[in-house]
Amino acid sequence: MRRILSPSILAADFKVLGEQIETCEKNGAAYLHFDVMDGVFVHNISFGLPVLQSLKGATELTLDVHLMIMEPIRYIEEFAKAGADILTVHYEACENLQETLDAIHACGVKAGLVINPSTDVEALRPYLHQADMFLLMSVEPGSGGQAFIPQTFDKIRALRSMLEAQGLETDIEVDGGVCHANVKEVLDAGANVIVSGSTVFRGDIAENVAGYMKLFQEE
Ligand code: DX5
Ligand code: ZN
Repeated sequence: MRRILSPSILAADFKVLGEQIETCEKNGAAYLHFDVMDGVFVHNISFGLPVLQSLKGATELTLDVHLMIMEPIRYIEEFAKAGADILTVHYEACENLQETLDAIHACGVKAGLVINPSTDVEALRPYLHQADMFLLMSVEPGSGGQAFIPQTFDKIRALRSMLEAQGLETDIEVDGGVCHANVKEVLDAGANVIVSGSTVFRGDIAENVAGYMKLFQEE
């Protein structure tokens, strides 16, 4: 399966966001992870539609939008119009998850489904054929720079086998605390889309992204 890096701009320097995104793109990133936080579903407030709108057409990267907001169904259309290529919603934040996934597909956008560290991977079973990507949080949502929760490895393995049992090759994205030191283990467990904020944007971005690309090549 294609191994994809999705740098999380939550960790970027917004004074020079355009340049930093370009550096990520030039060095091999294929997605851009866009963490929307509403201060209700998670304690933090990040950024939203105007920032996404400004990126649309300004980058070739796939805009991988992670909605950490209550009842995301209310905003699907606006985020789709603002340029999202993938809209990922939290299992824990949707009154009617099927309706929410359908609303994303109705806008012609890929639907991602994400669960928090404390949510069992079994919760995803009814939706294995409904989502275009599954996201497993490896930190509590709400901020970057946290440590990777090791129990996530078993969840990745369990989800990958649940998908394989259905003959599905759906992308599994992992988000939070991933770094050069643990990414091989995350990939070996069965994930293929890697979100990374602090490891990409702290220090030399070109080197950090190239470091992931090198690790992605290794068997
Ligand atoms: C946390 C966000 C993550 C975070 C990742 O709520 O969903 O995407 O920004 O940042 P790092 O890689 O620093 O943990
Ligand atoms: Zn995220």
